[in-house]
Parts: sequence; C-alpha cells; structure tokens
Amino acid sequence: MSGIPIEDERERIRDANPIEDVVAEYVDLVRRGNVFKGLCPFHPDSNPSMDVNPQRQTYRCWSCGEHGDVYSFIQMIEGVEFPEAKQKLADRVGIEVHQYRSERGREQENEQDFRILERAANWFQRQFQAETGSAARSYLQSRGFDDSTLARFRIGYAPPGWSHLNDDLGLLGDEAVDVRRRAFQLGLLKEKDGGRYYDAFRDRIIFPILDYRRERVIGFGGRHLGSAELASGDAPPKYINSPESKVFSKKRVLYGRREGRLEISRERRVILCEGYTDVMMAHQYGFPTAVATLGTAFTDEHVVVLKRLVSHVDLILDGDEAGQMAAERACERFMGTGLEVRVVILDDGVDPCDLLLQEQGKQRFEELLESGVDPIEFIVKQIQGRHPGQGASAAQQMMEEISRVVLDPYHDQQVALEAAAGQVARVIGVTEPMILADHMRLRQQRSPRRMAPANSESTQKSRLPDEEEAILVAMMRDPDQAELLLKLRPVELWSDPLRRSLAIRIGQLGRNLDPVHIEDDDEKSLYLDLDARVDRENEITADDDRESVRYNTSLDLVRAFLTDMNGRTGIGKKDSQRTIDINKAIQSMDLDRESHQNPSLLLQIINRFEGGKKSDAPAR
Ligand code: UTP
Ligand code: MN
Repeated sequence: MSGIPIEDERERIRDANPIEDVVAEYVDLVRRGNVFKGLCPFHPDSNPSMDVNPQRQTYRCWSCGEHGDVYSFIQMIEGVEFPEAKQKLADRVGIEVHQYRSERGREQENEQDFRILERAANWFQRQFQAETGSAARSYLQSRGFDDSTLARFRIGYAPPGWSHLNDDLGLLGDEAVDVRRRAFQLGLLKEKDGGRYYDAFRDRIIFPILDYRRERVIGFGGRHLGSAELASGDAPPKYINSPESKVFSKKRVLYGRREGRLEISRERRVILCEGYTDVMMAHQYGFPTAVATLGTAFTDEHVVVLKRLVSHVDLILDGDEAGQMAAERACERFMGTGLEVRVVILDDGVDPCDLLLQEQGKQRFEELLESGVDPIEFIVKQIQGRHPGQGASAAQQMMEEISRVVLDPYHDQQVALEAAAGQVARVIGVTEPMILADHMRLRQQRSPRRMAPANSESTQKSRLPDEEEAILVAMMRDPDQAELLLKLRPVELWSDPLRRSLAIRIGQLGRNLDPVHIEDDDEKSLYLDLDARVDRENEITADDDRESVRYNTSLDLVRAFLTDMNGRTGIGKKDSQRTIDINKAIQSMDLDRESHQNPSLLLQIINRFEGGKKSDAPAR
C-alpha cells in the first residue's frame, strides 16, 4: 500500500523479531512440541491457553480468540497503533525505521523537547528528595502515599521562588537560549517583558505526565502546596497543567495509562477517575487500570482513544455537583459508541483517593465498582430530576431532552436504538414502543435543523457509522473499487470530514496515493491506522479468502442497493418485470459471489437499475 520500501522494512523488522522472543518478554513460555504455551495476557487466564507458533510466527489464544503476528501482539499488549508497534520492534533490534520525510524532521525537533522535559522532571524529582522538598514529602506521606508509589509516578517538587528551574536550564551554557525558549513553549518557564524568563511552577508538587508509548515525559501537572485550600481571593490555582504543545495533547492524554498499560490491555478496561491523586492511590491499592483525564474535561478524543484501548469503562466520580455534571457530560459522550460503561457516583465530598484510605477502603471500592449503573439509566434519572413537574409540558420537555441526548446517538444502529429505548422505558416506567414512537416524532420535528447539529464535528467522530470505515478499507485494499463505492455512497453524505477527505484522495489518486502527501496529521494518522488494519487482516486471513474479503463491502452495498430499489418499485403492473429482474440479480449475486467480484460488472448492475421507479422503468 505504502510503496515497496515500507513493505520491505515491515518484513525486515518482523524477521528480526522472532515472535517467541518478543512474547517471552511479557509472558512465561514453555515449549510443548512445535509450539510455546503461556498464560494469555489479553484476558484473565489461569491455564496457559495461548500458543505461540515459531514456524508460522503467530500467536493464538484458544480461550479468548486473540491472535495475530508480532505486530498485532505489540499493538494489543502496549495499546498502540501500528506505526508505534513498528517503531518499538525496530528499536528492540536496532533497526532504523524509514519515516516519511515530514515526520522525521518533526521527530528530531521533538527530540529536543523531550530532553528538556526529561531534564525538568529529573530536576523536580531531585528537589522533592532534597531538603527543600521536605514539606511536600511529608504532605504526601500524611495523605497516605507510599514511597514506592511516589517513585513510580516520578513525583517531584518545584520550590517557591522565581528562577530555580530557569537557572538549572542556564547551566546548559551556549545551548541555553534556545533551551529556554523551548521550555517557555512547553510551559515550564514564563516570560516577562524584556524577554526574561521565570519558573512557571512554584511551590508545587509535580506530577509528570508520561507518553503511553514510551518511557518519556510529555507534560506536567502541579498541585499547589498548602495555601490553595484557604481559597483567599487571589490564592494561586490549586492545579496548573502544562499547556498544549507539539508533544502534549490534553484532549487525548490519560494520566496513569503508561503505568497501567499492561493491565489495561490484559483486561481491556479502565477505571476512569477525576484526579491525579485518585489514580495514584488506586494504583497503590492494586487497581492499576485507573486513569484520569487532565483537568475535569473529558473529550470526544478521549472516547476515540478509549474505544481503541478497551471494551469497558468504569466511570467513578465525586458526588458533588461538579462531579455529577462531569459524569453526565461524560456519559453523553459515551452514548452510541459501543463501549460498555458503568457509572459510580461517590458520596458528596469523597473522592476515590479518600475512599481507598478509609477502613476497608479497598473492599468498599471493589463493591462500588460492582454496583455501577448503566449510563442511560444515569442520564435519564438526571434529566428526570431536572423536570420534576407533573404536567404534560414537563413530560414533553423531559422526553425531548432524552430523545436528543440519549437516543439520537443511536439513530444509525437500529438494534442498539431499540435496546436504548427499552432502557429509557424501564427507568421512566412506560413501554418501549411509546418511547420509540415519541422519539421518532420528536426527531422528525427536529429534522430541519439536524443537518447542522449543535454538536461539533469532532463530537460525531466517535459515533461514525462503521460503514464509512469499511468503505475506506475496501478502497485501500483495491482502489479499483473506489468508483463503485463512491457512487453508492457519495462522499458528500459522509458524516466525518476526515474520512470524507481521505475517501476523495483515494478516489483521485488510487494506487499512487502516498501518505507523505497527506498534510493533515489526523488524516495521515487515520490513513496509517487503516493501512495497518488492512495489513493485519491480510495476515490473519488465509490466502484463498483474501480475494473475497476484499469484495465483501462492495457486494454487501450493491445488494443493499438492489433491495432498496426493489422496495421503491411500486406494485403496479408496469413495475413487475423490473421487480423480477432485480430479484434475479440479487439471487444470482447470492448464489455466486465469486463471479461478482468485479467492480465493472457491479457498476453495470447498478447503472441498469438505477433511478428507482421515477425513471427508466423497462418499456414492456
Ligand atoms: P480535585 O480538586 O479533585 O483534585 O481535582 P485531586 O486530584 O483530588 O487532588 P487532592 O486530592 O484534592 O489533592 C481533580 C482534578 O482536576 C484537575 C486536576 O487534574 C485534578 O487532579 N484540576 C483541579 C485542575 O486541572 N485545576 C484545578 O484548579 C483543580
Ligand atoms: Mn479529588
């Protein structure tokens, strides 16, 4: 797909990383005949149910079904996408990875940022251990944190004063000017007029935030020590966080993800909490899948990240009003995403960190996780609470909100929509058909405005119909299908601008498309992800089946098109021959898919029946 050198490289890296060696770094393997056996790292396993086959260079778990090659193993266990898995395997054996030119430049530029961030993290950690950090140390000890937890999370301290870190960076001599400018861009230093810099973090406990892919620092959170609780008018904010930078994207980062990555990929779940301290304490008490967003904002990008990473999310939030609001906003974003979510609301004024420290805290925490409620139930109850009136208009308003917030996100998934309506019905105490009917009516009323939804484009991203992705993958497998697919599903109607743009690109360039030319980072990364998916699917599909997999989407869509045309044909005499013809075409496709694996034949079929009953009904 991406040209010959890249494919060669992929093979070369694979050859240099025997799967049995790589897996053995994560799992104890024992030889049994031709294969190695070990405990599967992708589900809780007590009997070794994973086989690693050195001849085929594959792994397979007989219990949970996870299987693939050395790349997919790394992707799964480290929770990374293909490009990072490739980088890791290359690093493991010292192969230099060919990168797209623009990426290589950027990586080098970023290298220096990473060095500065690492130097700062080290420096903060040393201050924490030194005399100046004694108040910070005893504060965290008094809050119940073990030394090993503090070390594991690389907790540091930024002393009061204006120019400590600044001075330390100054020790870099000639480099210092550039280093300070970068440290400023990374939010470590601030600038006062005259181009002089001073420390951004002062008298703060420092929480370094790690890249989930590699052991490196990408940003910092800093909690003010002491006075913040007094909340006098101009008290400094309790927490400050690094600003967005080239290497730090708050809307995607999850605190604790790096530290818990192996457990997260094994269990395919996370416990999503609010704060840094919650995450650290949860890890300390044996819940390494705990993660938190930075600040209270939970974004659609987080949903996308989580969807790739896990199948289950336990959302656990403070019981105060802010926590309830945050829970509701988060649940709204989870609607229709297919993630299994449970919501736990704690008592007012308690957060997971406090709770764990209470007597029997660990057990209590476990019980709470067991008792989480369904997000639909949670949201509906919240909405109900806001419309307490008895009258018809209160009920109307409530239903309008439910329809919009809870049911709309399911509108392209009929089965899930019905299930959601069923849940709503149970909470409110009416029947499912009533809810569905109400919803359809309200949706209808909203429909003139629906084309310009209140939510942003990125809100839609996580809820994209899988069909668009399937079409992209089919086009990437075989650009010859592009014309057909885009005729059936014109890009103007696609819901996601990124996918739309990529579809147009593939449609225009076909096999000549080279990701180097994709300028938009998100679009490029979408392309690389999909490309990796094609690769992965190819690897796990037997040679004979590849051809048919390649055409599945096209055939399915053509069949749907024909069925639809049939539905539109009236039952009048004039149409009956057409109906018969369409049915014949469907039948012949069903009976012999293989001979229909031909884009131009499929195009002919569409052209023949296009137009529904409006136009060229056969003149018989
Ligand atoms: P909390 O106020 O609950 O803090 O905010 P915490 O992490 O529990 O800390 P302790 O236990 O009171 O010491 C939860 C999260 O919200 C973000 C931080 O990420 C924090 O961990 N936050 C909070 C900010 O970004 N800025 C703030 O001013 C406050
Ligand atoms: Mn808290």
